[in-house]
Amino acid sequence: MQLEDLNALAEKEHATHKKTCLRTCMSAGCLSSQSDKLKKNLDAAVTAAGLTADVEVRRVGCMGFCGQGPLVGVDHPDGHSKLYEHLTPDDATKLVGELQGKPSGLPFGDEKHPFFARQMRIVRANGGVIDPERIEAYIAAGGYRALLQVLTENTPAGVVEAVTKSGLRGRGGAGYPTGLKWATVARAAGPKKYVVCNGDEGDPGAFMDRSILESDPHLVLEGMAIAAYATGADQGFLYVRAEYPLAISRLNLAIKQAKAIGILGANIFETPFSFNVEVRIGAGAFVCGEETALMASIEGKRGQPRPRPPFPAESGLWGKPTLLNNVETFANIVPIIQRGAEWYASIGTEKSKGTKVFALTGKVKNNGLIEVPMGITLREIVEDLGGGAPDGHEIKAVQTGGPSGGCIPQQHLDTPVDYDSLGQLGSIMGSGGMVVMDDTTNMVEIARFYMEFCRDESCGKCIPCRAGTVQMHQILNKIIERRATAEDLKQLEELCDMVRQTSLCGLGQTAPNPVLSTLRFFRHEYEELLQPASAPHAPNSNHS
Ligand SMILES: Cc1cc2nc3c(=O)[nH]c(=O)nc-3n(C[C@H](O)[C@H](O)[C@H](O)COP(=O)(O)O)c2cc1C
Ligand code: SF4
Ligand code: FES
Repeated sequence: MQLEDLNALAEKEHATHKKTCLRTCMSAGCLSSQSDKLKKNLDAAVTAAGLTADVEVRRVGCMGFCGQGPLVGVDHPDGHSKLYEHLTPDDATKLVGELQGKPSGLPFGDEKHPFFARQMRIVRANGGVIDPERIEAYIAAGGYRALLQVLTENTPAGVVEAVTKSGLRGRGGAGYPTGLKWATVARAAGPKKYVVCNGDEGDPGAFMDRSILESDPHLVLEGMAIAAYATGADQGFLYVRAEYPLAISRLNLAIKQAKAIGILGANIFETPFSFNVEVRIGAGAFVCGEETALMASIEGKRGQPRPRPPFPAESGLWGKPTLLNNVETFANIVPIIQRGAEWYASIGTEKSKGTKVFALTGKVKNNGLIEVPMGITLREIVEDLGGGAPDGHEIKAVQTGGPSGGCIPQQHLDTPVDYDSLGQLGSIMGSGGMVVMDDTTNMVEIARFYMEFCRDESCGKCIPCRAGTVQMHQILNKIIERRATAEDLKQLEELCDMVRQTSLCGLGQTAPNPVLSTLRFFRHEYEELLQPASAPHAPNSNHS
């Protein structure tokens, strides 16, 4: 496979495109509302109407507006597009009838909707556009040119330098500089090194990585292959939870297709570089997203964290240097190589470059997946893209970072979304879960929800987290049931401090964050539930 072969494949693919395209979302969200049946019916309706020469029904990945699914984007020959929402399989004939000038009355929107217009799609550029199950579609969209370019024109050190200059930081939560991590692995002694993609995605409400894997699996594979070349690795693993069967099957298909044309495997693009990738399926434990637990799981051991150092970059899988990055981090690599580190670094803020994908959920009108430039404010996200709270309610807070994050109150909605600003408010960027809460939300219950999650997901290896999350959850219960005193609240704060400081891994270290952030901004909600200091202990008391 050479550049001419890639171009020939792309040309052949372009020749299959027809004048009108019905892009039908076949990612997990829309599939759960029968978009597979809808596509089948659309195919049949196009055939029945005698339109097969001019109309194509294309399977595509997630368009982002998942709350409005099933979605079909209709691209007309004059260049304008309409987005049909909430379709059923029975709407297929009506939709095809519209192409013949018969008004259908089906509701549609367009891409000028603020939900789309305010986005900047870099890693999600192909989502909702190309067929994720065909490598030809990815190649026709410019795919695998970045890998070919680095293998034939760049040195590994040059690639590491480009990633460093781009300012990309890890999208898995902590925001560690990606170039620095790659440089450490590149420096480590070989010859055996690994590249691992973290697709565990255990945060409640998060589905960014699933959507990227389902919609554009080759983008992640190409990013991993570039990483392997840059760091000197020849073997990769994609760790994906078993709850993501579609992502897993599309990844396996993508690997098979890439191998078949010499883009993965031995001597890629007829160069000395070889790289093989395998998918490893996780059992859905949140802790297995933690990098050392994830590697233990790949090695076939119980998925429990171990102390760091040594870091994976020095001693990872089977004791070998291992580069471990998040799905979205790898998905940023191809655009950086294709469009340049300077271009990438020009997007975002001084210390947080590029875009971030968020799963916008909760009490907000427009739910779904968004990709926005770093530095956009929380208010712009929840009010402009999200459309604000439904049913006339006010937004009370926005939760970012999942169980490791915090709740940012409405008075701080003008905060720019970047690693440092969110950190200063006691939250974190996290991997991209963003849950909007309205004025009906009880913040103590929110804190209890996340604590219950951490208690259930604690692996039990170290005492502060194993016992501390249970105790903190019990106190939160006591507060919500109006059985607690100021003394209990003090003990809760002490436990938060102890668990944060003494737990072995990030799960325990950050488990107190939802409590601490709600205490910081909504302390009165806790205090209103406390027993008066002088009152006798009354377990089932109902007074306030
Ligand atoms: C409890 C816990 C769960 C985690 N879950 C994930 C996850 O699902 N996906 C992820 O990419 N990183 C997760 N991380 C962070 C990883 O340990 C690691 O920092 C990250 O995958 C590195 O990739 P990055 O540098 O590209 O962000 C988790 C960390 C902890 C402590
Ligand atoms: S902090 Fe919690 S999850 Fe992490 S090792 Fe300790 S018990 Fe396990
Ligand atoms: S799953 Fe269809 S738009 Fe997201």
